[in-house]
Amino acid sequence: MDVYAIVGRSSVEQIEAGVYHYEPNGHALSNIAIEDVRERVAKASLSQMWMARAPLNIVITAEYCRITVKYKERGIRYAMVEAGHIAQNLFLQAEALRLKAAIVGAFNDNELIDILKITRSHEPLLIMPIGYAP
Ligand SMILES: Cc1cc2nc3c(=O)[nH]c(=O)nc-3n(C[C@H](O)[C@H](O)[C@H](O)COP(=O)(O)O)c2cc1C
Repeated sequence: MDVYAIVGRSSVEQIEAGVYHYEPNGHALSNIAIEDVRERVAKASLSQMWMARAPLNIVITAEYCRITVKYKERGIRYAMVEAGHIAQNLFLQAEALRLKAAIVGAFNDNELIDILKITRSHEPLLIMPIGYAP
C-alpha cells in the first residue's frame, strides 16, 4: 500500500501545495510535485469538482505484486481489506481533529496515476477529501 497527500495552496499549515508520498519509516512526507493539483484530481474523479475545495485529498494505492508474491491471488483481497482499514483510520483521525472526511471511489485510474507520477503497476483504490465542515 502507498498513501499520497495532495495538498492545496494555502491549505495546510507549514506544507506547500503539492503532491507528497507518505513515508511510514520516519512518519514523514516526501515531495513528488510542487503544484496545486486539486482541480486535476477533481476532474479525474469524473468531475466531482467539490473535491477541489478540500484542503487535503489523500490517495490510497496498492501495488499488488508486493503482496501477491507472498499471498498469491489472495493478496489482492488483503490489499483491499487493508485500504479499508487505512481509510477508516483516516476517518477516525479526522474526527479526532474535528475535521470532516469523505470517500471517493469514482475516478479515472490512469489520470490519477499521471497526477501522482507513479507507474501503472499501482492501482489507486480510494481518494479521501479532508477538510473543515462548511
Ligand atoms: C468505496 C466507496 C466509494 C465511494 N465513492 C464516492 C464517490 O466517488 N463520490 C461520492 O459522492 N460518494 C461516494 N461514496 C459515498 C460517500 O462517501 C458517502 O458514503 C455517501 O455520500 C453517504 O454519506 P452519508 O451517509 O454521510 O450521507 C463512496 C462510498 C464508498 C463506500
